[in-house]
Amino acid sequence: MERIKSWIADRLDERPWWMNLLMAFSAFMAVVYMPWDMFVKPMAVDEEVWFGFILHGPWAKATEPLHWAIYALGAYGFWRMSPWMWPWAAVYALQVAIGMVVWPIVYLEGGTGLVLGLAATVPFGAIALALWNAGDLFDADNRPSLRDRYGSWALVTGASAGIGAEFARRLAADGVSCVLVARRREKLEELAAELVRHHGVETRVVEADLSTTTGPELVADAVSDLEIAILVNNAGVGYVGRFDGQDTGRLREMVQLNCTAPVVLTSRLLPAMVERRRGAVIVVASVAGRQPLPLHAVYSATKAFDLLFGEALWVELGESGVDVISLQPGPVATEFEAVAGEQRGDAGIEQSAEAVVQSCFESLGRQPSVPTSWVNWVRANANRAVPRSVMALLAGLAMEAQTPEDKR
Ligand SMILES: NC(=O)c1ccc[n+]([C@@H]2O[C@H](COP(=O)([O-])OP(=O)(O)OC[C@H]3O[C@@H](n4cnc5c(N)ncnc54)[C@H](OP(=O)(O)O)[C@@H]3O)[C@@H](O)[C@H]2O)c1
Repeated sequence: MERIKSWIADRLDERPWWMNLLMAFSAFMAVVYMPWDMFVKPMAVDEEVWFGFILHGPWAKATEPLHWAIYALGAYGFWRMSPWMWPWAAVYALQVAIGMVVWPIVYLEGGTGLVLGLAATVPFGAIALALWNAGDLFDADNRPSLRDRYGSWALVTGASAGIGAEFARRLAADGVSCVLVARRREKLEELAAELVRHHGVETRVVEADLSTTTGPELVADAVSDLEIAILVNNAGVGYVGRFDGQDTGRLREMVQLNCTAPVVLTSRLLPAMVERRRGAVIVVASVAGRQPLPLHAVYSATKAFDLLFGEALWVELGESGVDVISLQPGPVATEFEAVAGEQRGDAGIEQSAEAVVQSCFESLGRQPSVPTSWVNWVRANANRAVPRSVMALLAGLAMEAQTPEDKR
């Protein structure tokens, strides 16, 4: 119970008290009032005011989905303190303030309506002004850098390509020096030179095969002289195709790389972070771990492992000062597809590695895991109400389309 209370208190500390009230009000409007307004209130008595203009009946009803969307986005935007909240939240509060003048004037006789209308406008006008002046709070650039939050060194596995390389670029841009780990030394050295050139940080290249039993231990030994503040468990592979057609050794290596390596590296590097009472552990899981994926059976199982591993640590480390998050990207434009032997075609709708990393740092410290876009949120959650048999069969259909014929 203490953990839940402290998590709620931390979340409420992220914005001023009056903005917490606006967030609660927006959530109430989105979840309770607007659904009632849309589906229960008779059309004949429906009325809405938009920028001072009164709409009646069907015209009023027609604007309600937009009204609902504004409150739903408002609640979400306050929760995440999203940069896009400014300035539209202030403009919307101003239009509510204008509406407040109109209602009493229309419904009350004489000067009383005008006086009451003007009085009602004051608090809403004040909210609009406060939101207008709160632009800095929504600006992500005003938040402490990753170096200030966590410390000066990060270790990124799988940094020679894709999401890992992008993690290293983002960390270096925030002044964090990087240990770059993968098998292709020349790629790591190229990236290290780029980070030094553009951001002036220190780098260390560690060539290692994390799919071996000794690989993760060798990496941990190679950084024993550094205070690793941020660990990005990113290296991973998948191999598409029927399970009974796959090579046993390759499957074992996949489990070793995707599951054992994050466990060993986290186990070796986390205790020092806990002792320092600050640090971050990032586990790159996948929406593939949200359901079984026939023709990607072992891969989806390893990503479910990564997801649950990170989410459980998030609770364990709640009070420790160490932030943990599991990422749930969907298809991302990297070398992964080619290595996996997939044929995504149009089914991919790929996200950029940069967007995955951005989503990670927006959510790190606030929640145990994050689908890295709204499309991935839908992918991850759409199957929740479906029986597992149906879910597995549908996932099988989707995977068949992405698997070359000779591997089905
Ligand atoms: N791309 C996607 O669609 C997608 C979607 C969801 C989740 N993910 C996850 O995102 C993570 C990163 O994948 P990515 O998309 O960036 O793929 P990627 O472009 O193929 O990069 C994979 C990275 O892992 C490294 N790696 C592979 N085998 C390794 C080994 N045995 N030892 C050490 N490093 C190894 C690779 O470097 P070397 O080859 O130089 O060793 C490379 O740096 C993975 O965990 C993947 O499961 C990807």
